[in-house]
Amino acid sequence: MQDIDLKQYIRGIPDFPKPGILFYDISTLLRNADAWQLATARMARAVGPWQPDQLAAIESRGFLTAAPLATRLGCGIVMLRKPGKLPGDTISLSYDLEYGTDSLHIQADAIKPGQRVVVTDDLLATGGTLAASVALLRKAGADVVGASVLIELTALGGRNKLDVPVHSLLSYEE
Ligand code: PRP
Ligand code: MG
Repeated sequence: MQDIDLKQYIRGIPDFPKPGILFYDISTLLRNADAWQLATARMARAVGPWQPDQLAAIESRGFLTAAPLATRLGCGIVMLRKPGKLPGDTISLSYDLEYGTDSLHIQADAIKPGQRVVVTDDLLATGGTLAASVALLRKAGADVVGASVLIELTALGGRNKLDVPVHSLLSYEE
């Protein structure tokens, strides 16, 4: 299993969710216990040297990468959530989507000042979501030391929007 190319577990689905989009479906990777274990082990190996105190998990598919990574690395998880989901005082940040805007929220007391945080998600596409997450984490007092994703769509240039080191396990040129 160690030498395996994990791309064989990911399906490309044309024209989803709309015409012209090639959707990389991680469901088939998640379903395979050995492949998913290997994927999270490889991600953890890359993130470990950043020595995070906390992982920041972007709702919703980022929750899937954050949980096994945090367990492997022995650190906590802070949730970055869509509006109306977190109790107590929150800090938020709005960001632009292709059509309209969206926002992410974090509990105001989630990060101790200067804590080292690695933000994680399943996918880096345009980079809008991760860039907003980094900005929100800084607003909350974090020292953002890296970003970790399962898949990067390199043609969209998302990593250029980020001023932290980025590790992607699998990259696709289109
Ligand atoms: C997808 C994906 C990333 C984001 C990447 O999330 O899970 O979070 O888009 O896109 P970007 O780099 O262009 O910002 P989506 O908003 O579809 O929601 P989900 O995770 O709840 O499925
Ligand atoms: Mg997402």
